[in-house]
Amino acid sequence: PPPLLPRILVPEKLSPEGLALLRSTGFQVDTPAPPLSASDLLAQIPSYHALIVRSETKVTAAVLAAGTKLRVVARAGVGVDNIDVDAATQHGVIVVNSPSGNILAAAEHTIALLMATARNVGRADAGMKAGKWERGKLVGVEGGLGMRVMVFDPYASEAVAKEIGVQLRGELGGLLPEVDFLTVHTPLLASTANLVGEKELRGMKKTARVLNVARGGVYNEEALLTALEEGWIAGAGLDVFTTEPPVEGSVAARLAAHPKVVSTPHLGASTVEAAENVSMDVCTQVVEILKGGLPTAA
Ligand code: MLT
Repeated sequence: PPPLLPRILVPEKLSPEGLALLRSTGFQVDTPAPPLSASDLLAQIPSYHALIVRSETKVTAAVLAAGTKLRVVARAGVGVDNIDVDAATQHGVIVVNSPSGNILAAAEHTIALLMATARNVGRADAGMKAGKWERGKLVGVEGGLGMRVMVFDPYASEAVAKEIGVQLRGELGGLLPEVDFLTVHTPLLASTANLVGEKELRGMKKTARVLNVARGGVYNEEALLTALEEGWIAGAGLDVFTTEPPVEGSVAARLAAHPKVVSTPHLGASTVEAAENVSMDVCTQVVEILKGGLPTAA
């Protein structure tokens, strides 16, 4: 019997370069107009050999169980938080991602938020739009460029730190009282959830600003809100939240709306270039995996 023609479901917006690559292989690529509801995904997944998602689609154990033909689930991004990787492994489904396609975008967004928090860009802009000229109220601080960088990273080597000109420190607690800006770049894991909480925030300079362009929950949101309200630190630049979008009335929503916070709606990876990078990265891997052979039609 002839081999099955692989079918690929792409329920979220993927940049056209990757889709073109998939189509050039002759595979059937379906891009249903988003959003695909959880029940639609469950109903449709049994016909597909590959599923490519960004952050909206939840690839649950139920989806993976229903996807009896699935060979690969791809995440066009770094984090695989929205994929039940254990369930995928149980079902023999390969999970791939794009570990480096959007790191430059995330780093640049961090710098943007650092500058914005240092110079009150968010409040100043909101004020201008409301017809206010709050020049006297919005005095900032310097130190963004040419900064001395101290790093806590249990996986980084001294040699790498030296090469890129940063100072590697043995523990997080030790560097916190020294920094003017703190930024975290980790996935959300048991070991990184609430990494920076009340104790850590209380130990920082009152003039310090903190940044999160990684995952909501690496800072304990309640402690962060208290820290801003009680003046333990001076401000925050937040791109990510424990719930996205933040639920009305939640601590995340209060942080996003706080006058000492510059907030953005998870834009760290949202550049034209990063979208193309992650799209090409995952589509290339999906093609390779699917070309590895599919079961033949019965
Ligand atoms: C990622 O995990 O790649 C980033 O957080 C961006 C995203 O969620 O799309």
